[in-house]
Amino acid sequence: MENSHRHGTSMIAKLIDEPAVAADNPLKIGDLTFRDGHQSLFATRGRTEDLLPIAEEMNKVGYWSMEVWGGATFDTMHRFLNEDPWERIRQLKKYLTKTPMMMLLRGQNLVGYRNYADDMAEAFVDRACINGIDIFRTFDALNDYRNFETVIKPIKKNKKHFQGTICYSLTKPRMGGEVYNLEYYVQKAKQLEDMGADTVCVKDMAGLIAPYDAYYLVKALKENVKVPIHLHSHFTSGMADLAMLKAAEAGVDIIDTCLSPWAYRSSHPAIEPLVMTLKATNRDTGFDLHQLAKCSAHFEKVSPKYRHLLDDRMSTIDIGVLLHQTPGGMLSNLINQLRDMGASDRLGDVFAALPQVRKEMGQVPLVTPTSQIVGIQAVNNVLFDTPEERYKMISAQSKDLFYGLYGRTPVPVDPEIQKKALKGYPRGETPYAGRPAEIIESEMPKNWEDTKGLAKDIDDVLIYGMYPMTGKRFLNWKYGNEPIPPEVMPKTLEDCAKEAELVKKAKAGLLVEKPAKEVPPKGENIRQFNVFVDGDYFSVEVDAIGGVPMITGINPIPQPVAAPRPVPVAAPAPAAAPKAAAPVEGGSRLEAPMPGMVIRYVVKEGDQVKEGDVVMILEAMKMENSILAPVSGAVKQITCKEGQSVQKGDVLAVFA
Ligand code: CO
Repeated sequence: MENSHRHGTSMIAKLIDEPAVAADNPLKIGDLTFRDGHQSLFATRGRTEDLLPIAEEMNKVGYWSMEVWGGATFDTMHRFLNEDPWERIRQLKKYLTKTPMMMLLRGQNLVGYRNYADDMAEAFVDRACINGIDIFRTFDALNDYRNFETVIKPIKKNKKHFQGTICYSLTKPRMGGEVYNLEYYVQKAKQLEDMGADTVCVKDMAGLIAPYDAYYLVKALKENVKVPIHLHSHFTSGMADLAMLKAAEAGVDIIDTCLSPWAYRSSHPAIEPLVMTLKATNRDTGFDLHQLAKCSAHFEKVSPKYRHLLDDRMSTIDIGVLLHQTPGGMLSNLINQLRDMGASDRLGDVFAALPQVRKEMGQVPLVTPTSQIVGIQAVNNVLFDTPEERYKMISAQSKDLFYGLYGRTPVPVDPEIQKKALKGYPRGETPYAGRPAEIIESEMPKNWEDTKGLAKDIDDVLIYGMYPMTGKRFLNWKYGNEPIPPEVMPKTLEDCAKEAELVKKAKAGLLVEKPAKEVPPKGENIRQFNVFVDGDYFSVEVDAIGGVPMITGINPIPQPVAAPRPVPVAAPAPAAAPKAAAPVEGGSRLEAPMPGMVIRYVVKEGDQVKEGDVVMILEAMKMENSILAPVSGAVKQITCKEGQSVQKGDVLAVFA
């Protein structure tokens, strides 16, 4: 009885009053508010002007690290915010004098979506070190650590911290099974330690890790590796707070959190309740809740600028993640793609196909870009396969994966499907087993050449090298060669207050629309104009009466292909879209199996083709698809032009 009394309420009350348990192993905290927080909630739109004013106070908290850069920040800043990404870290460094600054580095993908050449990877990481990054959280979508070899060199040379990362993945509802079991994670952690990792991070980007799996995983890692263990999980499925608590009990060294206004939903657990939870225990963070509250108040204040980007669903968690172990972003991509193909009712079939497709593609972790590649291949299989033939439509990105261009998959891919995928593959039909960047030619000399007269230093050159089109556009804004468009300008709190006032008026019924005027009949001199506003296209009819043009009808015309979420891409201006030629009578027709954009034709009019030959390449959902000849014969007519958007069922070619 004596024993059970020790856990009674009187004992707890005593603990809180005068902490009896020494915090002999304080839990260290990595803050993500400046990067993953707004990347998860607001499409990475956080502006430097909203981070700088609170940086000095954040620096006093006592964080182990603050993640401030990398991931999607580099892309969104130069593309949507007219901000120089390098300038942000130089500015923050002035205030974060004792808190190490962390960035998320996508291994050889750096802060982009493809493998870059070694010379570019070395230059980029070197410049990140010099501009102020202290900790490099480095990951690879396949957990193929050969993709770390190049970036480790400049990290170590500059005496910075290399955090080796394992992407957390599952093939069933809980940890275990043939691939992603304890053994796998322990092996990966040891491999990272051998490569010189200063810490090892388990990165659960989809919020899949269940609390007891976190407990046993951390225990196993602590028993098998010497370097500190860091746990990163998203709240998406609702389990992350519990997982962090169990990980703390198992002895995890560092966990990631956000300040409460930018926490939860698809972001991370909030720091404030965790500080209280661990108070008076041996994992007490020692943080001052009042200091945290001061920092949180700042984010509450600036959040109206970003609220319109917040998901407005009632539920703050996504139980789809629990049901299908599918990352939230991947699910919305699948739904969008099926809708574009007029096959929304096939989602169940896609879920049924996914496990097998993923197995055939080497059980890759589901993280950008592999989640899209596997997801879209599963959709293609569901929509186009026949009982006689599977993998009828293999995307170019799937072919790259089968070739080995992304690296080594956790288990080998299916050899039969690989053979089929690599038939006629431009890099060769024999799969590549080496380190991917070894077959990429150096890029920096061309980057310098292309930016001559525009770039002023290597940081400018790297902005261009990473994102040639939008990077060049940004440099032209930066140096005043092109006007800065209003949509990249910051929104002020005054703007937000005005908007809120309008909404309030509207809700109170005080916002009265002007009475509709009677529409006059259309005159004879009516003229039609195409008007392009941002990404939207309007057809406007103008009827001149007494010299004053009057608008008589505006018909918004929907964009034919919805941009895939969640990767933000500027909508291309639909300038003078080429029209398809009317197909000639007779012959066999090749129709578009899905909406998309014509990349190029492989054949020309008059060519002889055999059934199954590639006729053209159609891009849909960022994936390139080979469209095959339905019959053997001569190409009688090519109906579309390169760059043209087509709808499902549009005629692409006619065969005699
Ligand atoms: Co994350």
